[in-house]
Amino acid sequence: PRKIIIDTDPGQDDAVAILLALASPEEIEVLGITCVAGNVPLELTSKNARIICELAGKPDVKVFAGCDRPLGRKLVTAEHVHGETGLNGPVLPDPVMPLQEQHGVDFLIETLRAAAPKSVTLCPLGPLTNIATALQRAPEIAEAVQEIVLMGGAYFEVGNITPTAEFNIYVDPQAADIVFKSEIRIIVMPLDVTHKALVTKPRNDAFRVIGNAAGTAVAQMTDFFERFDKEKYGSAGAPLHDPCVTAYLINPDLFAGRHINVEIETQSDLTMGMTVADWWRVTDRPANALFIKDIDADGFFALLTERLARL
Ligand code: BDR
Ligand code: CA
Repeated sequence: PRKIIIDTDPGQDDAVAILLALASPEEIEVLGITCVAGNVPLELTSKNARIICELAGKPDVKVFAGCDRPLGRKLVTAEHVHGETGLNGPVLPDPVMPLQEQHGVDFLIETLRAAAPKSVTLCPLGPLTNIATALQRAPEIAEAVQEIVLMGGAYFEVGNITPTAEFNIYVDPQAADIVFKSEIRIIVMPLDVTHKALVTKPRNDAFRVIGNAAGTAVAQMTDFFERFDKEKYGSAGAPLHDPCVTAYLINPDLFAGRHINVEIETQSDLTMGMTVADWWRVTDRPANALFIKDIDADGFFALLTERLARL
């Protein structure tokens, strides 16, 4: 299996991404989960990550708290999307499993320093603060990273938190800039693809009929999560942004995109956090990311439903 570290701010869609990874031990070995402030403050994201591990029946997964605020800006959260706990929808018990004492950034550095070259994949599902901090403090860790597969950004779909910025990149544009300039191989799941991974009514029903705790909780989470997108965009259901990352690790053939240059706007107040994606290759700036745009959505939901049934 591919060794990964999930960096996350759960978040209902983060939760589904984590469940999918934990349900797929043949393809994915989760070395640890590092939490970051994003959808809700760090105290809640690091609690929610443990709630999800226990829901998956995996209380031995190591969960770490990382950075509690962006590198240089005030934290922006998204309770208006995810609810005040970040995980509104199902009623799940408080976690019994402990939070690791080590700081998430120290765990990232220690693990990557000890790893063989290109042997660990990083999966950021929230603002890139932890990853950028680790890279800044210990640049040599980049060698141990096989790829970064992240959810963030948008090109055709433009923005969901400002007219031009996607939430994860907007919250910490400085961190995103560091990551996109790191020369590590990056695969990006922007809104352009995640807005095609919609939990329609039949897909939600399929989660529910699985009949286990994970399937029921995912159905309830996506019920809650879809309110925002339905009202705001008239979308057909909740977009499963972050699970695109873990699904890609299991079956990359579900996705298609282009190798292009992506730069992050860190200066302009008007377009702060915009992912300036050279989709049409109108500059000669070198490609630094595989920018995904298309998904086999039926294949994605079939995979997810089948895996949730294993939990
Ligand atoms: C991203 O922002 C968060 O609200 C979601 O969890 C996802 O990671 C979508 O813009
Ligand atoms: Ca997220």
